[in-house]
Amino acid sequence: MSPFSLTRTLPEDATDAALRADVLQGLAATPKTLPPKWFYDARGSDLFERITELPEYYPTRAEREILIARAGEIAAASGARTVVELGSGSSEKTRHLLDELTDLHTYVPVDVSESALSQAGRALIAERPGLHVHALIADFTAGLTLPDTPGPRLVAFLGSTIGNLLPHERATFLKSVRALLAPGDALLLGTDLVKDESVLVAAYDDASGVTAEFDKNVLAVINRELGGDFDLDAFTHVAVWDAGNEWIEMRLRARAAQTVKIPALGLVVDFAEGEFLRTEVSSKFREQGVRRELAEAGLELTHWWTDAAGRFALSLSTPR
Ligand code: AVJ
Repeated sequence: MSPFSLTRTLPEDATDAALRADVLQGLAATPKTLPPKWFYDARGSDLFERITELPEYYPTRAEREILIARAGEIAAASGARTVVELGSGSSEKTRHLLDELTDLHTYVPVDVSESALSQAGRALIAERPGLHVHALIADFTAGLTLPDTPGPRLVAFLGSTIGNLLPHERATFLKSVRALLAPGDALLLGTDLVKDESVLVAAYDDASGVTAEFDKNVLAVINRELGGDFDLDAFTHVAVWDAGNEWIEMRLRARAAQTVKIPALGLVVDFAEGEFLRTEVSSKFREQGVRRELAEAGLELTHWWTDAAGRFALSLSTPR
């Protein structure tokens, strides 16, 4: 088999159908919500890359610090011959880990973005001749079928992207990951940790306004894909710490009463002045909570590593 292959498990029009269903449902709900996955068109992905470089947005740097410090330990503990990365994006941080895995045979990046997958995949093969890259275009929250590659497998889910799922969605997701694992396989999970409210709010409402632009980009996606007439300037970006749920909520607040039309859905939506549209939940975690959620999915936490400042954690767990 050639060293690079790309498998599409999503129909070409799945994205369109899912966007329509999500917008229809989310804008009819009270309070109004939209799922965060629709931020990430080309511009949104670009804005997210800029977020990761902001002084206020520590998670990417904290996770990279742990990966660099612990790549050898993670590699030794997993002995992986196949690494599956869910939501791989540019695969930038994962390289540190792949470099330490001496018996690595296949890397399976999984993402909804075909361009990110082929770019990252080809770059990796150029750097690591002999490595097989089997890219999967797939929605990892919708149940995955993995290619038949040699074990042990390490499934990596980095960036605290798990925090964008609500607790009941996380439970379902972790069970589906558990179902992919055989004895000897492992899950490497990145989780951002609970910390001072001021640090968290600044990370999601930066001084230069990049996160505000990122937040409003979901409206631009709806305008472009569904013919909507959202006025991006009519909304203000807000980041709120919900202490009860221990999550950050990103919201768009209507600056004035307004009506938005979305012709492709035959939808007319009214916003009251000050009404919020929730665009993202970003949960923050504690070790005991991660351990419990993993256990409830049939996984046993075996390793817990944080950055020196204790802001972010990587955990390794294995099937029980
Ligand atoms: C991509 C899920 C890691 O929740 O921190 C960054 C997305 N949203 N700034 C996060 C995000 C606002 C991010 N993750």
